[in-house]
Amino acid sequence: MQKLVIEGGTPLFGEIMTQGAKNAVLPVLAACVLCEGTVHLKNCPCISDRYASARILSALGAKVKTEGNSLTADCTGLSSDEISCYLMKAMRSSIIFMGALLGRTGKCTLCYPGGCNLGPRPIDMHISAMRKMGGIISDEHGVISCSAPDGLKGCRHSLSFPSVGATENIMLAAVCAEGETIISNAAREPEICCLADFLRACGAKISGDGGGRIAIEGVKKLTAPDEAFEIIPDRIAAATYLSCAACAGGELLIRDCAPAHLEAVLPVFEQAGCRLKVFGSNIYIYRKGRLRAADTIRTMVYPGFPTDAQAILMAPLCTAEGTTVFVENIFENRYRHTDALCRMGADIKAEGKVAVVTGVPRLYGTVAEAPDLRGGAALVCAALGAEGISEISGVNYIDRGYEEIERVLTAAGAKIRREAEKLP
Ligand code: EPZ
Repeated sequence: MQKLVIEGGTPLFGEIMTQGAKNAVLPVLAACVLCEGTVHLKNCPCISDRYASARILSALGAKVKTEGNSLTADCTGLSSDEISCYLMKAMRSSIIFMGALLGRTGKCTLCYPGGCNLGPRPIDMHISAMRKMGGIISDEHGVISCSAPDGLKGCRHSLSFPSVGATENIMLAAVCAEGETIISNAAREPEICCLADFLRACGAKISGDGGGRIAIEGVKKLTAPDEAFEIIPDRIAAATYLSCAACAGGELLIRDCAPAHLEAVLPVFEQAGCRLKVFGSNIYIYRKGRLRAADTIRTMVYPGFPTDAQAILMAPLCTAEGTTVFVENIFENRYRHTDALCRMGADIKAEGKVAVVTGVPRLYGTVAEAPDLRGGAALVCAALGAEGISEISGVNYIDRGYEEIERVLTAAGAKIRREAEKLP
């Protein structure tokens, strides 16, 4: 096991290149199952979830080669349509292979996905959508067997909630299904558009992505694009590094991100007193002096304030002048980072959906464990601004979504290192 050791109090200076998006590369890797030929991907983040997805592809019989931020996947000769529970449990996004495999082979066997514990994360919408398209789905003690003996048929779906995962699964099931599929109240996240762009590059007929109503005309087959496909920048990683500067002070240039994808997030930094400048695909942030509390932050589906940035923005607001209220509307149990922040000296009262953060003058280093991916990132942000040394374990959570976070932050002047955890 590993931990991050962070000495706080050093302002950050420098440039940070934004990594490729975790939540975009994962559905694109699942989509490779539907393609003939070799898919070339670039700007793939070097994160453990990406490797977990590549392991699933290899287990299905695909030829996968990775080299830094590039990856090739050839799924022409798939030899299996079963994904072990061990591989499924590695992350939530493994469930997206259901739509891809049903669309490609007409059957698959998998089990319930893993992923961060953010409260209940059912897959009822995924399963009912597959059934509506002609899938036969059974669940024997957690093993999910799926088949579509007559092939999948396009149809209308009206999602009760614009679920990101369910939208992606339906898109993958529909691209080679018979006839037209309409998804109303579809998720509108940029990662959905990235998946649609990839599928179109492979010959799919998709329109309306990003607008909440997606139309898909099934085609006979998909073929790997001639050109390498570029994964979009990670908006949550960009928000995280902005938050590091807001916590530690100093000035940072976040390069090659997509500022438009952060329209609900950037105003919070400005309200808190950070100076921000957006130019092209870069964001410059400068923080000096004490922050101010921000208006109430309500997490929403895109283009609202992202739930994945909730913990990350809470970290700097722990030392702001005044009180900020958070309302978490997407997940039932996404305040598990507040215990550790309170151990650092923060004043947070969290109950149900609401967390009330009353700013304190400063935080102090502590020993804490990352509760999940974004909670772990929030502890790193807070530790950079805290007085003294922090030791954060559970780094495996952080590695799921951030590419070598300690190398990236050290290059911006942070005092952070990774160490093996000494077992008692
Ligand atoms: C995606 O998860 C992201 N993960 C999450 O990011 C992100 O928090 C979430 O979307 C919301 O933006 C990936 O893309 C890999 P949902 P997903 O289906 O697809 C309920 C991170 O930190 N729901 O939109 O699992 C569900 O319980 C991660 O990078 C059902 O009830 O999210 C939740 O309350 C964490 N039934 C809500 O909808 C279903 O069948 C949103 O879930 C599906 C979802």
